[in-house]
Amino acid sequence: MTTAAQMRGRTALVTGASGGIGRAIAEQLGDHGADVVLVGRNEAALEEAAATVRARGGTSRTIALDLADPAAPRKLVEQVGEVELLVNNAGVAPGGPMVDADADAADLRGMLDLNVAALTELTALLLPAMVARGHGSVLNLASVAGYMPAPGLAAYAASKTYVLALSRALWTEVRGTGVRVVSVSPGATRTAMNPRGTRTADQVATTALAALAGTAPAVIDGRANAILGRLFEALPARVAGPLAGWAMARFG
Ligand SMILES: NC(=O)c1ccc[n+]([C@@H]2O[C@H](COP(=O)([O-])OP(=O)(O)OC[C@H]3O[C@@H](n4cnc5c(N)ncnc54)[C@H](OP(=O)(O)O)[C@@H]3O)[C@@H](O)[C@H]2O)c1
Repeated sequence: MTTAAQMRGRTALVTGASGGIGRAIAEQLGDHGADVVLVGRNEAALEEAAATVRARGGTSRTIALDLADPAAPRKLVEQVGEVELLVNNAGVAPGGPMVDADADAADLRGMLDLNVAALTELTALLLPAMVARGHGSVLNLASVAGYMPAPGLAAYAASKTYVLALSRALWTEVRGTGVRVVSVSPGATRTAMNPRGTRTADQVATTALAALAGTAPAVIDGRANAILGRLFEALPARVAGPLAGWAMARFG
Protein backbone atom coordinates (compact mmCIF):
# COMPACT_ATOMS: atom_id res chain seq x y z
CA MET A 1 0.00 0.00 0.00
CA THR A 2 1.10 3.57 -0.58
CA THR A 3 -0.61 6.16 1.62
CA ALA A 4 -1.06 9.88 0.87
CA ALA A 5 1.71 10.68 3.37
CA GLN A 6 4.12 8.50 1.37
CA MET A 7 3.41 10.27 -1.93
CA ARG A 8 6.13 12.97 -1.78
CA GLY A 9 7.85 13.04 -5.18
CA ARG A 10 5.84 10.04 -6.37
CA THR A 11 3.37 10.06 -9.24
CA ALA A 12 -0.39 10.10 -8.69
CA LEU A 13 -2.59 9.78 -11.77
CA VAL A 14 -5.97 11.40 -11.07
CA THR A 15 -8.72 11.11 -13.68
CA GLY A 16 -11.44 13.72 -13.72
CA ALA A 17 -9.17 16.21 -11.96
CA SER A 18 -10.51 19.31 -13.70
CA GLY A 19 -13.29 19.77 -11.15
CA GLY A 20 -15.29 18.36 -8.27
CA ILE A 21 -14.00 15.45 -6.21
CA GLY A 22 -11.06 14.66 -8.52
CA ARG A 23 -9.77 18.20 -8.29
CA ALA A 24 -10.08 18.15 -4.49
CA ILE A 25 -8.14 14.85 -4.34
CA ALA A 26 -5.43 16.26 -6.65
CA GLU A 27 -5.11 19.39 -4.50
CA GLN A 28 -4.88 17.42 -1.25
CA LEU A 29 -2.18 15.26 -2.84
CA GLY A 30 -0.37 18.55 -3.50
CA ASP A 31 -0.31 19.08 0.29
CA HIS A 32 1.66 15.81 0.51
CA GLY A 33 4.18 16.91 -2.13
CA ALA A 34 2.99 14.42 -4.74
CA ASP A 35 3.74 14.64 -8.45
CA VAL A 36 0.15 14.81 -9.71
CA VAL A 37 -0.92 14.04 -13.27
CA LEU A 38 -4.32 15.65 -13.80
CA VAL A 39 -6.53 14.19 -16.53
CA GLY A 40 -9.80 15.44 -18.02
CA ARG A 41 -11.10 17.09 -21.20
CA ASN A 42 -11.24 20.74 -20.14
CA GLU A 43 -7.67 22.01 -20.57
CA ALA A 44 -8.20 25.40 -18.93
CA ALA A 45 -9.80 23.87 -15.85
CA LEU A 46 -7.03 21.27 -15.64
CA GLU A 47 -4.35 23.98 -15.77
CA GLU A 48 -6.11 25.92 -13.02
CA ALA A 49 -6.27 22.85 -10.78
CA ALA A 50 -2.63 21.99 -11.58
CA ALA A 51 -1.54 25.49 -10.51
CA THR A 52 -3.27 24.98 -7.17
CA VAL A 53 -1.50 21.62 -6.72
CA ARG A 54 1.85 23.40 -7.20
CA ALA A 55 0.86 26.26 -4.87
CA ARG A 56 0.09 23.66 -2.18
CA GLY A 57 3.50 22.00 -2.43
CA GLY A 58 3.23 19.38 -5.14
CA THR A 59 4.37 19.15 -8.74
CA SER A 60 1.87 18.70 -11.53
CA ARG A 61 1.29 17.90 -15.18
CA THR A 62 -1.95 17.98 -17.17
CA ILE A 63 -3.13 15.65 -19.90
CA ALA A 64 -6.29 16.61 -21.77
CA LEU A 65 -7.98 13.45 -22.95
CA ASP A 66 -11.46 12.02 -23.52
CA LEU A 67 -11.27 8.82 -21.50
CA ALA A 68 -14.46 7.50 -23.09
CA ASP A 69 -12.39 7.02 -26.26
CA PRO A 70 -11.38 3.32 -26.23
CA ALA A 71 -7.80 4.22 -27.26
CA ALA A 72 -7.36 6.74 -24.42
CA PRO A 73 -6.36 4.58 -21.41
CA ARG A 74 -3.41 2.96 -23.20
CA LYS A 75 -2.27 6.33 -24.65
CA LEU A 76 -2.44 7.84 -21.18
CA VAL A 77 -0.40 5.10 -19.52
CA GLU A 78 2.26 5.31 -22.25
CA GLN A 79 2.57 9.06 -21.64
CA VAL A 80 2.73 8.94 -17.84
CA GLY A 81 5.20 6.15 -17.05
CA GLU A 82 5.44 4.78 -13.51
CA VAL A 83 2.37 5.47 -11.36
CA GLU A 84 2.40 5.01 -7.58
CA LEU A 85 -1.25 5.95 -7.01
CA LEU A 86 -4.05 5.59 -9.54
CA VAL A 87 -7.23 7.52 -8.71
CA ASN A 88 -10.03 6.35 -11.01
CA ASN A 89 -12.39 9.26 -10.38
CA ALA A 90 -13.69 10.50 -13.78
CA GLY A 91 -17.37 9.72 -14.11
CA VAL A 92 -20.62 10.92 -15.62
CA ALA A 93 -24.19 10.27 -14.48
CA PRO A 94 -26.73 10.61 -17.28
CA GLY A 95 -30.11 10.41 -15.58
CA GLY A 96 -33.73 9.80 -16.38
CA PRO A 97 -35.89 6.68 -16.29
CA MET A 98 -34.83 4.14 -18.92
CA VAL A 99 -38.52 3.37 -19.50
CA ASP A 100 -38.84 6.82 -21.15
CA ALA A 101 -38.81 6.51 -24.94
CA ASP A 102 -36.53 9.58 -25.19
CA ALA A 103 -33.81 8.15 -22.88
CA ASP A 104 -30.52 8.66 -24.75
CA ALA A 105 -29.01 5.23 -25.32
CA ALA A 106 -25.80 6.74 -26.78
CA ASP A 107 -25.28 8.70 -23.55
CA LEU A 108 -25.55 5.47 -21.60
CA ARG A 109 -22.91 3.84 -23.81
CA GLY A 110 -20.60 6.83 -23.25
CA MET A 111 -21.16 6.53 -19.50
CA LEU A 112 -20.20 2.83 -19.55
CA ASP A 113 -17.12 3.59 -21.67
CA LEU A 114 -15.96 6.04 -19.00
CA ASN A 115 -17.28 4.74 -15.66
CA VAL A 116 -16.60 1.07 -16.39
CA ALA A 117 -14.30 0.47 -19.38
CA ALA A 118 -11.70 3.22 -18.86
CA LEU A 119 -11.52 2.54 -15.11
CA THR A 120 -11.04 -1.18 -15.71
CA GLU A 121 -8.44 -0.76 -18.45
CA LEU A 122 -6.38 1.80 -16.52
CA THR A 123 -6.36 -0.53 -13.53
CA ALA A 124 -5.41 -3.56 -15.64
CA LEU A 125 -2.59 -1.59 -17.29
CA LEU A 126 -1.08 -0.23 -14.07
CA LEU A 127 -1.73 -2.85 -11.37
CA PRO A 128 0.76 -5.52 -12.53
CA ALA A 129 3.72 -3.09 -12.31
CA MET A 130 2.63 -2.05 -8.80
CA VAL A 131 2.50 -5.69 -7.72
CA ALA A 132 5.90 -6.35 -9.31
CA ARG A 133 7.38 -3.40 -7.35
CA GLY A 134 5.60 -4.46 -4.16
CA HIS A 135 3.97 -1.07 -3.54
CA GLY A 136 1.28 1.20 -4.93
CA SER A 137 -2.43 1.95 -4.52
CA VAL A 138 -5.58 2.12 -6.63
CA LEU A 139 -8.47 4.28 -5.45
CA ASN A 140 -11.74 3.75 -7.30
CA LEU A 141 -14.60 6.24 -6.95
CA ALA A 142 -17.84 4.29 -6.65
CA SER A 143 -21.06 5.69 -5.13
CA VAL A 144 -23.66 5.03 -2.46
CA ALA A 145 -25.92 4.57 -5.51
CA GLY A 146 -23.86 1.45 -6.25
CA TYR A 147 -25.23 -0.13 -3.07
CA MET A 148 -28.87 0.31 -4.17
CA PRO A 149 -31.18 -0.28 -7.10
CA ALA A 150 -31.56 3.37 -8.18
CA PRO A 151 -34.64 4.05 -10.31
CA GLY A 152 -34.01 7.04 -12.60
CA LEU A 153 -30.26 6.43 -12.44
CA ALA A 154 -30.38 2.70 -13.10
CA ALA A 155 -27.41 2.33 -15.46
CA TYR A 156 -25.23 4.81 -13.55
CA ALA A 157 -25.91 3.01 -10.26
CA ALA A 158 -25.17 -0.32 -11.94
CA SER A 159 -21.86 1.06 -13.24
CA LYS A 160 -20.95 1.92 -9.65
CA THR A 161 -22.03 -1.55 -8.42
CA TYR A 162 -19.52 -2.82 -10.97
CA VAL A 163 -16.82 -0.57 -9.49
CA LEU A 164 -17.60 -1.93 -6.01
CA ALA A 165 -17.50 -5.55 -7.19
CA LEU A 166 -14.31 -5.06 -9.20
CA SER A 167 -12.57 -3.33 -6.31
CA ARG A 168 -13.59 -6.03 -3.81
CA ALA A 169 -12.25 -8.77 -6.05
CA LEU A 170 -9.00 -6.92 -6.76
CA TRP A 171 -8.58 -6.17 -3.04
CA THR A 172 -8.45 -9.95 -2.63
CA GLU A 173 -6.14 -10.49 -5.63
CA VAL A 174 -3.52 -8.06 -4.28
CA ARG A 175 -3.60 -9.25 -0.65
CA GLY A 176 -0.07 -9.77 0.63
CA THR A 177 1.60 -8.04 -2.35
CA GLY A 178 2.11 -4.63 -0.72
CA VAL A 179 -0.46 -3.05 -3.06
CA ARG A 180 -3.83 -1.69 -1.95
CA VAL A 181 -7.08 -1.48 -3.95
CA VAL A 182 -10.02 0.31 -2.32
CA SER A 183 -13.33 1.80 -3.47
CA VAL A 184 -14.61 5.02 -1.96
CA SER A 185 -18.32 5.76 -2.24
CA PRO A 186 -19.54 9.32 -1.91
CA GLY A 187 -23.21 10.08 -1.29
CA ALA A 188 -24.74 13.29 -2.61
CA THR A 189 -21.77 15.65 -2.91
CA ARG A 190 -21.95 19.27 -4.11
CA THR A 191 -20.19 19.36 -7.49
CA ALA A 192 -21.11 20.10 -11.12
CA MET A 193 -22.56 16.57 -11.22
CA ASN A 194 -24.82 17.15 -8.23
CA PRO A 195 -25.43 20.79 -7.26
CA ARG A 196 -27.90 19.63 -4.56
CA GLY A 197 -25.27 17.57 -2.75
CA THR A 198 -24.73 18.12 0.97
CA ARG A 199 -21.15 16.82 1.42
CA THR A 200 -18.29 18.84 -0.05
CA ALA A 201 -15.71 17.60 -2.55
CA ASP A 202 -13.02 18.35 0.02
CA GLN A 203 -14.71 16.13 2.62
CA VAL A 204 -14.88 13.26 0.12
CA ALA A 205 -11.23 13.81 -0.86
CA THR A 206 -10.20 13.61 2.81
CA THR A 207 -12.14 10.35 3.23
CA ALA A 208 -10.66 8.95 0.02
CA LEU A 209 -7.04 9.67 0.94
CA ALA A 210 -7.57 8.42 4.50
CA ALA A 211 -8.91 5.17 3.02
CA LEU A 212 -5.46 4.50 1.54
CA ALA A 213 -4.09 4.04 5.05
CA GLY A 214 -6.87 1.63 6.07
CA THR A 215 -7.45 -2.02 5.27
CA ALA A 216 -11.13 -2.17 4.22
CA PRO A 217 -11.95 -3.07 0.60
CA ALA A 218 -14.76 -0.48 0.49
CA VAL A 219 -15.25 2.83 2.29
CA ILE A 220 -18.33 5.08 2.30
CA ASP A 221 -17.94 8.84 2.82
CA GLY A 222 -19.97 10.33 5.70
CA ARG A 223 -21.72 8.57 8.55
CA ALA A 224 -25.29 8.97 7.21
CA ASN A 225 -24.23 7.70 3.79
CA ALA A 226 -22.53 4.70 5.39
CA ILE A 227 -25.72 3.79 7.26
CA LEU A 228 -27.74 4.21 4.05
CA GLY A 229 -25.37 2.08 1.99
CA ARG A 230 -25.28 -0.79 4.50
CA LEU A 231 -29.08 -0.61 4.95
CA PHE A 232 -29.74 -0.87 1.22
CA GLU A 233 -27.35 -3.80 0.91
CA ALA A 234 -29.34 -5.68 3.54
CA LEU A 235 -32.85 -4.93 2.20
CA PRO A 236 -34.71 -7.20 -0.23
CA ALA A 237 -34.94 -5.70 -3.76
CA ARG A 238 -38.73 -5.28 -3.66
CA VAL A 239 -38.30 -2.91 -0.69
CA ALA A 240 -34.94 -1.36 -1.65
CA GLY A 241 -35.99 -0.15 -5.14
CA PRO A 242 -39.04 1.93 -4.15
CA LEU A 243 -37.28 3.21 -1.01
CA ALA A 244 -34.22 4.26 -3.05
CA GLY A 245 -36.49 6.07 -5.55
CA TRP A 246 -38.08 8.01 -2.71
CA ALA A 247 -34.74 8.82 -1.03
CA MET A 248 -33.17 10.03 -4.28
CA ALA A 249 -36.13 12.28 -5.08
CA ARG A 250 -35.98 13.70 -1.55
CA PHE A 251 -32.21 14.06 -0.98
CA GLY A 252 -30.62 14.01 -4.47
N1 LIG B 1 -21.17 14.37 -6.80
C1 LIG B 1 -21.81 13.34 -6.28
O1 LIG B 1 -22.87 13.48 -5.65
C2 LIG B 1 -21.24 11.94 -6.43
C3 LIG B 1 -21.83 10.93 -5.67
C4 LIG B 1 -21.34 9.65 -5.77
C5 LIG B 1 -20.27 9.37 -6.60
N2 LIG B 1 -19.72 10.37 -7.34
C6 LIG B 1 -18.60 9.99 -8.22
O2 LIG B 1 -17.47 10.77 -7.93
C7 LIG B 1 -16.70 10.96 -9.12
C8 LIG B 1 -16.45 12.44 -9.33
O3 LIG B 1 -17.71 13.08 -9.49
P1 LIG B 1 -17.90 14.66 -9.31
O4 LIG B 1 -19.12 14.84 -8.52
O5 LIG B 1 -16.65 15.28 -8.87
O6 LIG B 1 -18.26 15.04 -10.82
P2 LIG B 1 -17.88 16.34 -11.67
O7 LIG B 1 -17.72 17.52 -10.81
O8 LIG B 1 -18.89 16.35 -12.78
O9 LIG B 1 -16.45 15.95 -12.26
C9 LIG B 1 -16.33 14.89 -13.15
C10 LIG B 1 -14.91 14.85 -13.64
O10 LIG B 1 -14.82 13.81 -14.63
C11 LIG B 1 -14.23 14.35 -15.81
N3 LIG B 1 -14.76 13.69 -17.00
C12 LIG B 1 -16.06 13.59 -17.40
N4 LIG B 1 -16.13 12.97 -18.59
C13 LIG B 1 -14.85 12.68 -18.96
C14 LIG B 1 -14.29 12.05 -20.09
N5 LIG B 1 -15.04 11.58 -21.09
N6 LIG B 1 -12.93 11.94 -20.15
C15 LIG B 1 -12.14 12.42 -19.15
N7 LIG B 1 -12.63 13.02 -18.05
C16 LIG B 1 -13.98 13.15 -17.96
C17 LIG B 1 -14.61 15.82 -15.79
O11 LIG B 1 -13.65 16.57 -16.50
P3 LIG B 1 -13.85 17.21 -17.97
O12 LIG B 1 -15.24 17.74 -18.03
O13 LIG B 1 -12.74 18.21 -18.01
O14 LIG B 1 -13.62 16.05 -18.90
C18 LIG B 1 -14.49 16.15 -14.30
O15 LIG B 1 -13.17 16.45 -13.97
C19 LIG B 1 -17.50 10.31 -10.26
O16 LIG B 1 -17.00 9.01 -10.52
C20 LIG B 1 -18.89 10.24 -9.69
O17 LIG B 1 -19.65 9.19 -10.27
C21 LIG B 1 -20.16 11.64 -7.27
